[in-house]
Amino acid sequence: MLKLIPGPPGYPIVGNLFDVRDEVPIQGLSSLADKYGPIYKLSFPNAFGGYEIVVISSVQLLEELSDEKRFHKVVSAGLDQLGGDGPQGLFRSSSEADPDWGQAHRVLVPAFGPLSIVDMFDEMHDIATQMILKWARKGPDHRIPVTEDFTRLTLDTIALCAMGYRFNSFYQEGMHPYVKAMISALTAANEPPSLFGILWNRTTGGKEKQLQEDRITMNTIANDVVRQRREHPTDKKDLLNAMIKGKDPKTGETMRTELITVNMVSFLTAGHETTSGLLSFAFTLLLKNPAAYERAQAEVDTIVGQGRVKVEHLKQFEYLNAVLRETLRLQPTAPAFSRGLQPGNDEAAPSLGGYAINRRTKILALLPRCHRDPEVYGADAHEFKPERMLDASFSRLPRSAWKPFGTGVRACIGRPFAWQEALLVMALVLQSFDLRLDDPSYELRIKQTLTIKPRDLYMHASPRNGMN
Ligand code: HEM
Repeated sequence: MLKLIPGPPGYPIVGNLFDVRDEVPIQGLSSLADKYGPIYKLSFPNAFGGYEIVVISSVQLLEELSDEKRFHKVVSAGLDQLGGDGPQGLFRSSSEADPDWGQAHRVLVPAFGPLSIVDMFDEMHDIATQMILKWARKGPDHRIPVTEDFTRLTLDTIALCAMGYRFNSFYQEGMHPYVKAMISALTAANEPPSLFGILWNRTTGGKEKQLQEDRITMNTIANDVVRQRREHPTDKKDLLNAMIKGKDPKTGETMRTELITVNMVSFLTAGHETTSGLLSFAFTLLLKNPAAYERAQAEVDTIVGQGRVKVEHLKQFEYLNAVLRETLRLQPTAPAFSRGLQPGNDEAAPSLGGYAINRRTKILALLPRCHRDPEVYGADAHEFKPERMLDASFSRLPRSAWKPFGTGVRACIGRPFAWQEALLVMALVLQSFDLRLDDPSYELRIKQTLTIKPRDLYMHASPRNGMN
């Protein structure tokens, strides 16, 4: 006999909409998990198509949800609002059966593979050095706006590595029009709609006009970059050339311009906020844990010394790897992903963890909770302890204990890119500076757009001897 999923009772018309109206939605969902347990249900009003979401918070439930035969990716409301009509990029495609997703996946998987990413190292180093020089020039009294600078870094890096385009964010005060439009779209897509908005505009709560303008700006700029590359071809081994020149191994076809543009926009969006958040959280956690900070810096000093950080060094950074893993365990910067029943799943009574679910139910994996499951991580699951993520212990974890890059065939295609970039930047920063928090009593606070980042975080960087 299947059990009924618990959850807050909700109200007429708005359902549970106001139960998750936390400024940081992920924290609102987490508080509900405290009250209702590792699986609970929320219902949303007809204005949103009348659907329900089931939220899960344990490793055991995530393991079941990761079964690709039974469940698949469902596009979340926030992601859905970012796109418009026309083809969907890899990220937003609602089905693996979509021929556009299939083509882009087959063409891009090799372009995102570890070997291709190694070829991007020098360009990553170029942008990271711009940030290091800026911090050195500004000196130890400068209050570094950590998340802003890491966002400049990750955005410039993905734009240069993916399509040979320089935003030059470290050389200007204001933001490039693409960046302004993207921030505005991400903010609008994440804002909870007002009640008036819900009644007035059935699907987006009144944000459609702003989103529409932002999408046009982003698509026009990306389209221009694609056009220029077609007019002035290069041999550069980047993602843009992979899409322009690459033939789908299944159909032999090349990708049409419209699909290339939408995928470029996907990479610029998916490829920077998450990594910027990862770096910001990693340094916050290190600065709050001096023993871990010292061990990380000592590892860089031992392996690299005062010379140039090279790609060969990265695989030797066992502790830095553990720091990044532990950071994404506690603060998974893409904090949730949604799944639903596979269309071909013909279970007579669909279920999850012995609970009945509906065919249209979206199931949200709440990663900050799953990653702190005391059954797997013990009573100190909330503490930052990189040692538990060193290779030997990491490889012994249950399969679904750490899923910051999603799961299955729709897992993050950019993982090797993000990892190489984050390791390089950590190593360069630790090698070049001694860091301190602007406010030594800073307690981690979160801000959320589609991803999460530390809020109001500032630090100072004092150049070390022999800075490179
Ligand atoms: C998918 C996380 C970096 C491009 C995903 C998903 C997650 C994720 C959780 C699955 C989303 C879902 O199931 O709905 C992260 C994290 C990153 C990161 C935590 C950094 C720390 C990147 C980078 C790129 C990228 C650097 C591009 C250069 C993508 C794309 C997809 C994706 C295109 C969709 C793949 C598909 O559906 O076929 N990412 N990501 N990500 N990510 Fe990342």
